[in-house]
Amino acid sequence: MDMCDLIHLKKSGQALTAADWTWMIEGYVAGRIPDYQMAAFLMAVCFQGMTEAETIALTRQMTGSGDCLDLSSIQGVTSDKHSTGGVGDKTTLVVAPLAAALGLKVAKMSGRSLGHTGGTVDKLESIPGFCSELAPERFEEQVNDIGLAVIAQSGHLVPADKKLYALRDVTDTVDSLPLIASSIMSKKLAAGAATIVLDVKCGNGAFMKDPDQALKLAQLMVRLGQAAGRPVTAFLTAMDRPLGQAVGNAVEVQEAIATLQNQGPADLTRLSIGLAAEMLQLATRLTHPADLASRPAQITDPAWPATPAACLRKAQEALRSGQAWLRFRQMVQAQGGDLAYLDRPERLVGQAQRQTLTAPVDGWFDWIDTEGVGLAAKALGAGRSQLGEALDPAAGIILRAKPGMAVRQGQPLAELLTSSPSRLAEARERLLACCHFVPLASKPDSKPVACTQALPLFIARVSSDGQTETLPAHYPANEVNI
Ligand code: URA
Repeated sequence: MDMCDLIHLKKSGQALTAADWTWMIEGYVAGRIPDYQMAAFLMAVCFQGMTEAETIALTRQMTGSGDCLDLSSIQGVTSDKHSTGGVGDKTTLVVAPLAAALGLKVAKMSGRSLGHTGGTVDKLESIPGFCSELAPERFEEQVNDIGLAVIAQSGHLVPADKKLYALRDVTDTVDSLPLIASSIMSKKLAAGAATIVLDVKCGNGAFMKDPDQALKLAQLMVRLGQAAGRPVTAFLTAMDRPLGQAVGNAVEVQEAIATLQNQGPADLTRLSIGLAAEMLQLATRLTHPADLASRPAQITDPAWPATPAACLRKAQEALRSGQAWLRFRQMVQAQGGDLAYLDRPERLVGQAQRQTLTAPVDGWFDWIDTEGVGLAAKALGAGRSQLGEALDPAAGIILRAKPGMAVRQGQPLAELLTSSPSRLAEARERLLACCHFVPLASKPDSKPVACTQALPLFIARVSSDGQTETLPAHYPANEVNI
C-alpha cells in the first residue's frame, strides 16, 4: 500500500477499505506517514466525505490506537456523558454526582480544553487540593465506593486522535462531520463506559452552530455507538445563549454548587436533570430486569417502568433530596479537595478584581453573541490558547441579565472577574459588543424577540436505535418544575 494511492482514491471520491484505514492510522501513529501526506488526505476527506463504513472503520482503528479502559471491576452499570461544549457548560459537575446518586457508576475522564474556559478538570482544579490524577486502582475503588470519579484524560487514550486533531487544527480540516464524529466517539468508546449519553450543542455559542448539521452529527455518533455494540443516545440542546449565568472556572464551580443545592439557574438545573434521567433510562433498559445485581442500585424493582417521566422524577428527587450534593462532596473529599471551599464557595475566587458592566441603554436584551462571551472570559484569563498554558481560576464572567429581559440604562449586565486587572478593559469592551438591545417601544406587545426566537433547551433526541424525535417546548425535561 502507498499513501499516495490512498490520497488519490479519496481525492477522486472513492471509499477506502477497512484494511486501508488500519494501515493508514497505524502508519500515521507510528510516524511512517508524514504530516504533509496526512494533511493532503484530510483535505480530500473535507471535500469528498466518507461513507458510513469508512467512518466506522476509522473510529474502530482510532479507538484501538492506545489504551482502552477496562471498567469490568466496577460493580453496576457504568455510564458516561459527553458534551460537544459550549459557553458556561458546567453540566458534568452537576450531572456526574446526580447520576451517581441515581445508582449509576460514573468513571469519567475529562479533558483540559483549549476553549474559552477550561475543561471540566480545570474547573474542578479551581477547588484547592483537588487532584485529577488517580492511579487506575484508586480510580476504580473510588467509583465502586461512592459512584463517581472525574480524572484527567490519560495521554495514552486514543493517541491517533491526539495526533490527527493537532494536524486538523492547523490545516483547516476540523469541520468534517465524519472526522468530528469519529474523533469524539473513539475517545468515548476507549473510556470504557457501558452506556453513553451525548449532549450535542447547537446555536451561536456551539462548535456546531447550525441545528441541521448538529443533528446529523448526533445521529452519526449514535450509529457509531451502535456499530461498536455500545448503547448511545443523544440530545440536541440549545447553546444560543450561555448556559446559566457563570462563565469561567471557579465561578462555574460556584454555580454548580448552587445548582446541587437547588439554588441554581433554571436552564442548568433542567439540563442536568434531563441528562441524568436519560442516563438512568439507558442504563436501566440495558440490564435484564431479572439481573438486579447489575442494575442501578436504586432501581431494585424489576417492574420499575424506566419511562422518561419516571426517570425524570427520580432525577429530580435525587437533586432535591441533597443526594447529588452529597456525592459531589464525597468526590471532592476523596480526590483531596478542601471541603471548606464548598462550604464557603465565595472563597473560590479569592481576591479577584471585580468590575460591573452596566446596560448602556433602556431596552429589551434581544440576543447575545454567545461565543463572544466565551472569548471575553478568555480575555480575562479563563481560557488557554496553547495546551499547558496556565489558567487564572478566578477569571470569568457572571451574567446579571440574559436575553429576553427588559433592562434599564445603568442596570448591571454582568460582573467581570480577573486576577490581572490589566485584562479588564479589553474583556469589558468585548462583552459589551456581545449584548444586543432593541428599543422597548419597538415591542408594543411587550414580548421580547428573544422569547419568541430562542431555541428550546432540549431540541431533539436521537434514541439508541437511531430514531430521531423533535422535542416540543413542552417536552417534560424542558418544563421540569424547579
Ligand atoms: N471535538 C473533538 O473531540 N473532536 C473533533 O474533531 C471536534 C471536536
